[in-house]
Amino acid sequence: MADFKVAPADAPLGTKLMTWVDNRFPASKMYKEHMSEYYAPKNFNWFYIFGSLALLVLVIQIVTGIFLVMHYKPDAALAFASVEYIMRDVPWGWLIRYMHSTGASAFFVVVYLHMYRGLIYGSYRKPRELVWVFGCAIFLALMAEAFMGYLLPWGQMSYWGAQVIVNLFAAVPFIGPDLALLIRGDYVVGDATLNRFFSFHVIAVPLVLLGLVVAHIIALHEVGSNNPDGVEIKAKKGPDGHPLDGIPFHPYYSVHDIFGVGLFLMVFCAILFFGPELGGYFLEYNNFIPADPLKTPPHIAPVWYFTPYYSMLRATTDPMVNVLCVIVGLAGLVSLMAVKGKIKFVAVGAALVTIVLLKTFDAKFWGVVVMGGAVVILFFLPWLDNSPAKSIRYRPGWHKVMYGIFVVFFIVLGYLGIQPPSDIGTLVAQVGTLFYFGFFLLMPWWSTIGTFKPVPDRVTFKPH
Ligand code: HEM
Repeated sequence: MADFKVAPADAPLGTKLMTWVDNRFPASKMYKEHMSEYYAPKNFNWFYIFGSLALLVLVIQIVTGIFLVMHYKPDAALAFASVEYIMRDVPWGWLIRYMHSTGASAFFVVVYLHMYRGLIYGSYRKPRELVWVFGCAIFLALMAEAFMGYLLPWGQMSYWGAQVIVNLFAAVPFIGPDLALLIRGDYVVGDATLNRFFSFHVIAVPLVLLGLVVAHIIALHEVGSNNPDGVEIKAKKGPDGHPLDGIPFHPYYSVHDIFGVGLFLMVFCAILFFGPELGGYFLEYNNFIPADPLKTPPHIAPVWYFTPYYSMLRATTDPMVNVLCVIVGLAGLVSLMAVKGKIKFVAVGAALVTIVLLKTFDAKFWGVVVMGGAVVILFFLPWLDNSPAKSIRYRPGWHKVMYGIFVVFFIVLGYLGIQPPSDIGTLVAQVGTLFYFGFFLLMPWWSTIGTFKPVPDRVTFKPH
């Protein structure tokens, strides 16, 4: 009781109310810490709106999801028809459903751009490692959420997509078949699968996602935001204790983000009202046909946001495993010649064991490992990059080329994952997969090479 503040007797009612609340809950303190006195670098560019946009899309998905669940039936015999009922008979049901389906793709567009911003400005580097790690966990949860949500309309692509992906788990040595059975709850994708995916999609994963997003933002606000120069603004503080290059998040960036929200909603609504299927990329045509366990569609492909990884899975063929053996062998040989001390024998031993393992299990299993590894490797990024400059702005020109090639390959892999398999497509996907992994695994080495520009003490900023 002793610490209770008392509002002056003649204070406005709002002030009295806030004082009452603040004595019981840190509302004003939180508002100050995260909004009006959260000092963000003054040189943010447009790349910095995607965090807020991701929050917006999260809210859209949760709100539209709540309304969809009111009419959706998680039953293999009723699910498809209940979605059609939402589209045709439920007042505004079509809008809610299209907002949710377009929102799923928008989420990935926004999150991919958000991650790319982090990648080029080195936002994952010390002291923001945990911000990045929570972000990667969000990305994993988001993929699980999207995958399980896609089964719910119980269309042909929902059914066969789930069948293909769950069957992949069966390739895991020893426990695979039991693991696949556990996920499905049956020997084929069926009503039990639909029920458990529904339960995970509407409650379990969203809870995890929300918790992770809170952790992500708390971690960010603990260390402060990075910026396009990769300069730590907290290193230069004014007499008032605030960073010299910092400005309060509210009102400066709240306005900036609201502008971004306006632009985003224009594009979002244009897709929503004029092309919600977006030529089959956001909602595949095959998914307007009810699931038929007796009729496999000729070409099964996941939704666009999964296709880069799906391409890597398909690229892992027997010849690709042989190429991997040669690469691992060469790496062992290089360590034998270049590394000093006993560690070189450990490296050679590890290379030999890897080759034996690569040849023991079949390519399908390694495809699953490659696909999973492509996401898992992102978690380690903070410890792979040794570059003396955080931001791409102060790195050698050819580093920019490396990042450019990385993006091109990622998009090409995504495109190939949508197409039916072909010899040339597989070859390109194999080169893309090798580049993707080489980019990360060799980063400790290549990120230190080249002529770096001097990183300034203060951020660069042109008032506009
Ligand atoms: C639901 C998904 C996500 C939400 C709602 C979210 C939210 C946010 C917000 C509001 C910010 C501060 C504003 C900004 O810098 O843009 C932020 C920063 C950041 N996020 Fe996310 N995020 C999400 C996913 C991710 C993912 C998947 C990653 C990476 C794998 C990631 C990595 C980062 C990093 C490194 C920062 C700090 C950027 C900097 O200071 O330069 N986030 N996030």
